Amino acid sequence: MKAVILAGGNGTRLGPITKVINKHLLPVGSYPMIYWPLIKLKKAGLTEILIVTNKEDLASFIKLLGTGKELGVNITYRIQEDQGSGIANAINCARDFVDNQFIVLLGDNLFSDHLHPYIEEFIKGSHKAMVLLKEVADPKRYGVAELDEANQSIQAIIEKPENPPSKYCVTGIYFYNKHVFELIDLLKPSSRGELEITDLNNLYIYHEELHYEILKDWWLDAGTHDALFEANKYFYKKSIDPEVK
Ligand code: G1P
Repeated sequence: MKAVILAGGNGTRLGPITKVINKHLLPVGSYPMIYWPLIKLKKAGLTEILIVTNKEDLASFIKLLGTGKELGVNITYRIQEDQGSGIANAINCARDFVDNQFIVLLGDNLFSDHLHPYIEEFIKGSHKAMVLLKEVADPKRYGVAELDEANQSIQAIIEKPENPPSKYCVTGIYFYNKHVFELIDLLKPSSRGELEITDLNNLYIYHEELHYEILKDWWLDAGTHDALFEANKYFYKKSIDPEVK
């Protein structure tokens, strides 16, 4: 299975530093943030990785990671032409990279669970798409799942809801197959002008095709100053397992 890391966007909630540095290159522990999702994929045995980023940041990623050889992975790069155009639009950049099933990670989502059980579940299951949820204290900040736990199904996902239907946020760890590009073609920009990941996942829900699992361990979206500080506390002194390199 191939993997896609989304590492573009404007990073406005981490301003002003993100005016000059891509969020995913900011330090988390002793490494730039992007190392942590790369290491997660490598540990799960996924080494064919696409990084989608902004045109102006591409050179920095190439300077830092090159082909990925040092980390034992094989990195391809794509530019998201319109950097504020949404997560679903960024996924579209992987159209000619993936074979069939693939995983998408938002590069600012940091977590401690191993990915391989979820990858196996997706490969073996007959699901067209799968998301990983996490119970959080402040669901209003995220896409939130309305669950029918008895039937293990998601009824709807609501992006940044005023009245969250549950405490389960949809993390930036998504599993799709190539069919996703047909659905992306159906999306219309939201009121903020973006092709929204939540609209995409709601299309799967409409067809009863979105499976979910719940992350068991630590997870965080490092896209705000508070969260970045938390992430640094968590990763402080953590080094990369030399076995992985
Ligand atoms: C994005 C998604 C949201 C998801 C979150 C996870 O939000 O739109 O559904 O819950 O990532 O990190 P953003 O961080 O872009 O506001």
